[in-house]
Amino acid sequence: MDAVFFGVVILQVLTSVLSFPSGAPTSACVDMMPRHGGVQPKPNPAPYTIYPSSTTFQTGKPITVVIKGPDYSGVLLEARSGSDSKAIGTWQTPPTNTKFLACSGNQQGAITHANTNIKNNSTVYTWIPPATAKNVVFKATVAQQRTVFWVDVMSSTLTSSEGGTSLDVYSSAERIVTSSLLLLVVLLVIVRYQVA
Ligand SMILES: *[C@@H]1O[C@H](CO)[C@@H](O)[C@H](O)[C@H]1NC(C)=O
Ligand SMILES: *[C@@H]1O[C@H](CO)[C@@H](O)[C@H](O)[C@H]1NC(C)=O
Repeated sequence: MDAVFFGVVILQVLTSVLSFPSGAPTSACVDMMPRHGGVQPKPNPAPYTIYPSSTTFQTGKPITVVIKGPDYSGVLLEARSGSDSKAIGTWQTPPTNTKFLACSGNQQGAITHANTNIKNNSTVYTWIPPATAKNVVFKATVAQQRTVFWVDVMSSTLTSSEGGTSLDVYSSAERIVTSSLLLLVVLLVIVRYQVA
């Protein structure tokens, strides 16, 4: 009986340590999963939608992001490229009741809540695209309260609007040149063999 009681106390201490009222820890950067004492996320679709200010982006040009839905208290917000789990780009001054979280070696790589005060659709996050990304998606974990949260809340995909076409033309021209050179080498080798 004592052992059970002791176990319960330990569990409660662990739970309170693991619930992070002052923001997600860096250990959550990759899977974005809250360790809320074994509480599971709610199934998607979440009642939240991430709205970026644009469907395209350019290096260095700020994009604002809003999470619409019911008021929320906890958040972890990152920008990702494709299925890569690296947080990319740089977040600007966090809105009230939120703060930076260092992810992927970037002090401003993610945003999380600073307290459990209400955040809502007037909470606006600002993100600066990095130099090398083609597609970007915003990914969030949103918590209404400690035991009610959703992971994998995704925005639609944003595409880079800079020099996409000419880059593609350049790289296909490069491919043609490369394969022509390769063919030339193969032909030269064959010719040499036949001469010898
Ligand atoms: C969002 O929350 C803030 C702070 O609680 C509040 O002042 C503001 O009126 C709310 N905005 C909306 C649109 O609910
Ligand atoms: C923001 O939230 C408030 C209160 O929940 C709602 O009345 C309003 O329509 C929302 N605004 C937008 C732009 O979604």
